[in-house]
Amino acid sequence: PAIIVDDQKFPLGMIKTMVPGGNIVEHVQTIRNIIARDDDVLICTYPKSGTHWIWEIVSMLRKGKAEYDTKIKETAMLEFISKDQIEALESPRNLNTHFPLRMLPKDLLDKKRKIIHVMRNPKDATVSMYHHFKAMRIGPEGSVYSGTFSEYLSVFISRELQVKGGWHNYVTDFEKFAKENPDYPILNLYFEDIKQDPKREITKVAKFLDVPYTEELITAVAERCEFENLKKANQEIKDDYITRNIAHDGRQFMYRKGTVGDWKNWFTVEQNELFDESFERWMSGSELKFKFSL
Ligand code: A3P
Repeated sequence: PAIIVDDQKFPLGMIKTMVPGGNIVEHVQTIRNIIARDDDVLICTYPKSGTHWIWEIVSMLRKGKAEYDTKIKETAMLEFISKDQIEALESPRNLNTHFPLRMLPKDLLDKKRKIIHVMRNPKDATVSMYHHFKAMRIGPEGSVYSGTFSEYLSVFISRELQVKGGWHNYVTDFEKFAKENPDYPILNLYFEDIKQDPKREITKVAKFLDVPYTEELITAVAERCEFENLKKANQEIKDDYITRNIAHDGRQFMYRKGTVGDWKNWFTVEQNELFDESFERWMSGSELKFKFSL
């Protein structure tokens, strides 16, 4: 099948203008030079892989209380805040980013600050991303992405315009890094595993963070972070200025469906075959195992 790439409709150019100062190259360089604190934790994800979810889990575990933060995770997101804002954050900082490994703050890596990396099967991540672009009024005159799912998928598969250098490069870079640096504290998690057995995965996070925890705390965190509850908290408790300012029709695009396998409602048989072919090629040489349904 033909690959259709329509630059006009693709909103990456718009995203570049969202960094503080409006210059992405400068911003990345500045962020690369931030100074690590002893208790920094860095959450790394390819977009739409469960960043909000894990950020809330990490915040609760580090507080030792299953209480929602009134802030949204973007207040600690390397893409959206300036160096001064990062320095002004209270400790412990639960930093988060979609920047690929090579763009991460050097001092944090040199000082081996803990990294939690969450991965999601790329079919669901793609569908989620499509809806994200359809919901964000960041195009000219407040427009949203005007392409169809089919067009968006072609762009994803073609790799040429993948968000921040490509899904498979993103995840396999972390895989390689963990192999080459066996003593680096990095926890790799899968969205699908958290969905399937939240308490087991939250316990893994608590152990990795080395925080005191009880069975009650894990149960409470799992319950509070369950999709509908977190979505409701985002509406009722959090100051979600992003959704308020850029969501089309007031859509809660950060909390859309929260399931595994929604891609089946979007991919045609032909698109699925094409995707599988690409997936096999991208992941040859990788030992990562993804679940596309539960
Ligand atoms: P969907 O669009 O498939 O629903 P990120 O936070 O990295 O942007 O990822 C967003 C995706 O995670 C969205 O996927 C969102 O609904 C889902 N998500 C957010 N919180 C969740 C939760 N508590 N449980 C399951 N999925 C969640």
